[in-house]
Amino acid sequence: MVVLAHEAGAGTSRREPRYIDLGERGIYHTDNRLNDLTGKEWVFATRSVINMSFPPSLQFELRSQHGGQKPPELCAYLIRIFTKKGQRVLDPFAGVGGTLLGASLAERQAEGIEINPRWVRIYHEVCRREGIPPQPLHVGDAREVLPTLEGPFDFLLTDVPYWDMDVRRRSTGKFKRVGMPARERRRSKLRPFHELDPEDAAAGECTPQPLRSEAEWLDLLRTVFALARPLLKPRAYLAVFIGDMYHSGRFHPLSHRVTEVLCDLGYTMKANLIWYDVSKSLHVYGYRYEFIPSMVHQNILVFRNEI
Ligand SMILES: C[S@@+](CC[C@H](N)C(=O)[O-])C[C@H]1O[C@@H](n2cnc3c(N)ncnc32)[C@H](O)[C@@H]1O
Repeated sequence: MVVLAHEAGAGTSRREPRYIDLGERGIYHTDNRLNDLTGKEWVFATRSVINMSFPPSLQFELRSQHGGQKPPELCAYLIRIFTKKGQRVLDPFAGVGGTLLGASLAERQAEGIEINPRWVRIYHEVCRREGIPPQPLHVGDAREVLPTLEGPFDFLLTDVPYWDMDVRRRSTGKFKRVGMPARERRRSKLRPFHELDPEDAAAGECTPQPLRSEAEWLDLLRTVFALARPLLKPRAYLAVFIGDMYHSGRFHPLSHRVTEVLCDLGYTMKANLIWYDVSKSLHVYGYRYEFIPSMVHQNILVFRNEI
């Protein structure tokens, strides 16, 4: 690592910015308040479309019991953009721990909350098998656990639950290939997020309720993001995964709903990044009669806690 001369004369003050030559990675400026990226890396990190897919890793099969798991490498990529090494990341809807595993990959600290103990057990099993020291993951309702956490956090990264998808099974209607008889759609093998393991239900440890309406869903998000605010550092960023949906004959721009909620709470929207998952398979929807989008992307809404 080579320290280059300061613009106004090297070594005059400890506060003066310095340029550090990181070789192939480029030049790191010590004035960088946001992350540990060099100028060269920053250029790539700010592009609005992330066209990455990730090969199975970190006990993918085990984590995939949760239908909404996110690639830890993608989470690590975002965490490296919005934090510096050692900083703290919060995930109030942690699932099987995409954010927490991403934080471990990126050498950051993280703390999560997950209402269903089944997903928390899977996270711990992944850590055990991979030899990763687990980050704190609290079992409980984020609305109750958030007020007990100790801030400040430097970044909030989360993937919010859905109001309808969690409850509905994808089993309506028939499925037909050209020249073949119509057959029932395959039922999803995935468990709805809220469904407890029988032993947890018996122990009465936690009773996650399915969100039955859009209003209930928005209410949960409003409460959780309001409770998270005092835990975040001023100017901390938030990145929220949310896929838009097409069902019951119309497109549901859920990302707009989430944006409205967060902006009403006083967060400032900074970007709508598109994660284009190039490995997503295409299906035939509406062929010959109607345009129905084949959703191969998710939104990553970026906000900042401007205080
Ligand atoms: C989209 S998933 C997150 C998946 C996660 N990104 C991962 O990689 O596994 C949303 C999670 O929020 C959880 N959840 C729903 N309501 C909650 C609440 N009130 N408090 C905490 N967690 C909740 C669900 O059980 C679900 O696992």
